[in-house]
Amino acid sequence: MSQIVVRLRNVQKSFNDLEVLRGVDLDVAEGSITVVIGPSGSGKSVLVKHVIGLLKPDAGSIEIDGEDITTLSERRMIDVRKKFGMLFQQSALFDSMNVMENVIFPLVEHTKLPRKKMREMAINRLEQLGLTNVENKFPAELSGGMRKRVGLARATILNPKIIIYDEPMTGLDPIMCENVEDMIQTAQRTLGVTSLVVSHDMASTFRMADKIAMLFKGKIHVVGTSQEVSASNDEMVRKYIYLSGTGPLHLEANG
Ligand SMILES: Nc1ncnc2c1ncn2[C@@H]1O[C@H](COP(=O)(O)OP(=O)(O)O)[C@@H](O)[C@H]1O
Ligand SMILES: [Mg+2]
Repeated sequence: MSQIVVRLRNVQKSFNDLEVLRGVDLDVAEGSITVVIGPSGSGKSVLVKHVIGLLKPDAGSIEIDGEDITTLSERRMIDVRKKFGMLFQQSALFDSMNVMENVIFPLVEHTKLPRKKMREMAINRLEQLGLTNVENKFPAELSGGMRKRVGLARATILNPKIIIYDEPMTGLDPIMCENVEDMIQTAQRTLGVTSLVVSHDMASTFRMADKIAMLFKGKIHVVGTSQEVSASNDEMVRKYIYLSGTGPLHLEANG
């Protein structure tokens, strides 16, 4: 049994009259890839913002490594956040900084390491992600896929335990989606990180997810492995899979 690193229980959140989360329960196992799916506007981003403490729930508990973060002071929360890397859809690199400056940015912010050490760490991480001789380039000089990987290098430079990806594939062509998928799996395999991914790309979700959780009407409507979810008889899940053009046959075809 692997350990649960993120545990949500009965998490509720409203904005004025809008009930977004109405009692969310979710377990994310250490070293796993957990993918949250669900209709647009269902609260997926709100959910992951709770996990990193950017939003506080109205009720419920959110445990990170067994520690309930809903009652932590902002000061303690800064330490907890170091466990996270975040790669948001618009995880824009700083355009005015070159790749090296972008990647070492979290080290400069959070550590007192010598610059030489920081540069070494950055070069190693970039190499692990298949990027060599890009340190002096600026984001505008890189392809979209390379920029994503530089973003991943920056998100992982503090060796976070958990990486959160909010719709990392949005706006990318199929080849680049595959690169991102590959990158998420590389982070899992080579860096041992736990990934919590928000995605609407069902094909890649089925390929990479150890666990899929569907958020619908403020709750986790269905949860299971790719096999279980693709075989689900739940009407909402069927519709979702059907509309995304990704049936169980597609899953089998991809091994
Ligand atoms: N800070 C906020 N204040 C008010 N409403 C918000 C806020 N953040 C999100 N919402 C609302 O919560 C709902 C869920 O948003 P979101 O989590 O972004 O959906 P998703 O990521 O699933 O597309 C939306 O109706 C959105 O307008
Ligand atoms: Mg969102």
